[in-house]
Amino acid sequence: MALLTTAPRGTGDVLPADSKKWQYVERKLLEIAELYGFRESRVPVFEHTELFTRSVGDTTDVVQKEMYTFTDKGDRSITLRPEGTAGTVRSVLEHGLLNEALPVKVSYVLSCYRYEKPQAGRLREFHQFGVECFGAADPTADAEVISLADDVLQTLGVRNMHLEINSIGCPTCRAKYQQALRDYFAAHSQELCGTCVGRLERNPMRILDCKSPVCSKIAADAPKILDYLCEDCKQHFETLQALLTQMQINYVVNPTIVRGLDYYTRTVFEFVSDEIGSQGTVCGGGRYDGLVEQMGGNPTPALGFAMGLERLMMLMDKQCCPFPENDTPDLYLAPMGAAAQQKAAVLAADLRREGFSVLTDVMGRSLKAQMKYADKIHADFVCVLGDSELEQGTAVLKNMKTGESVEFAVENLTDALYDAQTKLALAELEESAAAL
Ligand code: HAM
Repeated sequence: MALLTTAPRGTGDVLPADSKKWQYVERKLLEIAELYGFRESRVPVFEHTELFTRSVGDTTDVVQKEMYTFTDKGDRSITLRPEGTAGTVRSVLEHGLLNEALPVKVSYVLSCYRYEKPQAGRLREFHQFGVECFGAADPTADAEVISLADDVLQTLGVRNMHLEINSIGCPTCRAKYQQALRDYFAAHSQELCGTCVGRLERNPMRILDCKSPVCSKIAADAPKILDYLCEDCKQHFETLQALLTQMQINYVVNPTIVRGLDYYTRTVFEFVSDEIGSQGTVCGGGRYDGLVEQMGGNPTPALGFAMGLERLMMLMDKQCCPFPENDTPDLYLAPMGAAAQQKAAVLAADLRREGFSVLTDVMGRSLKAQMKYADKIHADFVCVLGDSELEQGTAVLKNMKTGESVEFAVENLTDALYDAQTKLALAELEESAAAL
């Protein structure tokens, strides 16, 4: 039975009390991205498994250990998306978006699935806000995307984030670096974990990313990619740094950042917080200049980032960042008796069509219970409707904040509520003006 009332490990619910926070954050993120020209796209929760093995890379932890993969009834191998980039690239290629004016800029908010060991800030179902920009090779695009991530965090009131950047080069400089890593790790092959021994030949950079304490310790002294960058990659990285400085975006170069996904080239970056425990990377991204071609498109430079929404919200809660208040209902209509309950239902429907938020009794409760409820939901106004109000055609609208009451003709309820609201808003304005 417990299985029916307990969510699977590593998943979470957004309860009604918190949904406003989520809506606010998601809306803000997409709105700010729009200022930079990014438009939202929505891609499927599942894709062909091969999409991820080929793009994220079959020697990564994500593909080797963490994907939710199953065979569907048509005998296809299907995987729940572990991230948003691969599906977005698939989508822009499938719909020929890259044949239109470049750059193509896409944003998204989506759920992701990774079979990881759950802990604070690490879930099996989590959510990402991300952007992907296709067609721009220049470091100004890198600076723009990083500036967007920075803007988003600042706008939401997040503080004390560290931006760490690195360059992991292009295939040319990477080949030399990979050889240097192979030589280095080969000398430690007895100590590496089984997975990393397998990575030694095929993709030694992935060893740098291994979470095993022994491998991480060995990786700490491994050769650094920055010493192997070719002239073009070096130039790109230097220009990016100069741009970030001019944009007054603080950063540090961290030569150990390689990112856990295979598609990256040149710039990689992370925004990290040390206020939410060990899973402090709130945002990660970088360039992936080879991916579009690798997936069958024309050679197209690209870059982007994704932000973990659970980590972002955790940090915002920790730092008491401002969230909008939950809206309170404009009116609670409290009917007494069956006839009044029906009349209230009709009045409430009329008022909602006019745009007011109105709640009324749908349970046949006593007036006392209803008033308790109206108080609990913080209704701005309450109107009691009983037999006498129905007979006389007049009722009283009570302002729950001031206790002030006004009588009105029931058929003019919309106007009465509008007037009362205007009066309340004016009084609040005067109050705040007096406080200044
Ligand atoms: P990623 O670093 O794998 O990159 O994930 C991006 C962000 O998603 C992380 O920084 C973290 O905030 C969040 N995240 C990842 N795994 C979990 C998890 N198990 N639980 C909670 N949050 C998590 C990507 O996914 C790339 N697609 C980013 C990108 C876009 N690069 C270029 N474009």
